Amino acid sequence: MIATIIPDLRNHYPVLLSEIISIITPQYGGTFIDCTFGQGGYTKKILNFPETKVIALDRDSESSKKAQELQKSFEDRLLFKNIKFSQLNNLKLKDENIKAVIFDLGYSLNQIKDPKKGLSFDSIGELNMKMGINDFSAKEAINQLDEKELTKIFKYFGDEADSKRIAHNIVEDRSKREITTEELVRIIESSKRKRNYKTHSATKIFQALRIFVNKEISELIYGLINAAKVVKKDGVIAVVTFHSLEDKIVKYFFKSLSENKSVSRHMPKIEEKLNLFRSVIKKPIVPSDKEIRENPPSRSAKLRYVIKKEDFFDFETDILDKFKHLIDIENLSKKLWNNWF
Ligand SMILES: C[S@@+](CC[C@H](N)C(=O)[O-])C[C@H]1O[C@@H](n2cnc3c(N)ncnc32)[C@H](O)[C@@H]1O
Repeated sequence: MIATIIPDLRNHYPVLLSEIISIITPQYGGTFIDCTFGQGGYTKKILNFPETKVIALDRDSESSKKAQELQKSFEDRLLFKNIKFSQLNNLKLKDENIKAVIFDLGYSLNQIKDPKKGLSFDSIGELNMKMGINDFSAKEAINQLDEKELTKIFKYFGDEADSKRIAHNIVEDRSKREITTEELVRIIESSKRKRNYKTHSATKIFQALRIFVNKEISELIYGLINAAKVVKKDGVIAVVTFHSLEDKIVKYFFKSLSENKSVSRHMPKIEEKLNLFRSVIKKPIVPSDKEIRENPPSRSAKLRYVIKKEDFFDFETDILDKFKHLIDIENLSKKLWNNWF
């Protein structure tokens, strides 16, 4: 995600596209779920193969325009829903033969370029960072959370070494003036003890705020759980992540259910021998040097995938407990909307 905030990009470039296609094999047809439709890069490539169908989701309503365009060429083979992927279970897909569920996390170029969204530190004006279907914006978070709460968000979601100083300076500053995007960047730059010449000083704080505003931790966890439910036996779940927090969650989910740790109530007695997933790769797939040259933001992308071994809809996972400390931080936002009543 860090690397997606680069202003000099030209056109939309779907990350690790050929690797995704070789894993999900649309040449044999089937129904696929693209959880992060974006500009439709993956979806279009899949639909170019005959006998395929795509159920595409995106929380950003802007994506629906692109989906409508694609629907003209592919008619009833593309169904688009403007929902968050954590809501995948609401689509009643239990009896569909889903061949693969794919996630390409992060932000599309269009979202980064949209000044109203304020996702880039080059944006001007009111803080926002909402991707779509949000309860609050970065403006409310920055203005209403206390110093300790902001410190936690910056530290755990951004891994920012100067979290405390930055949070302190935000709280001091906000009593004097409105904190706009430019003002936030200025506070961060003046609070940093060391300058990193490779990345913008505001990178980590912006990442932390985007994760918080869009509840990306619980979105990903519930998205993965629901993907594992709906995908059929021999089907694939493939996820492209852009930062270590996302990758840690995906890696844990896949690994914990590939190592005799899953117990389904539909599993027979010999459950120790059964795992939900077959993990084919130990290390994540990363973009080639050529792709990184052509699309520099792809350099932080990591692709992991698993194959579902059994046709279980229900299974148990401890992923919510494992990442409870992060979900608790996301839940600090409850304070923001409680203030509305
Ligand atoms: C990197 S882009 C995907 C690009 C896409 N693979 C393509 O080739 O055009 C990520 C997209 O995922 C969407 N998104 C992120 N989190 C989401 C969520 N929790 N639910 C649904 N869509 C989400 C964003 O709005 C964005 O459009």
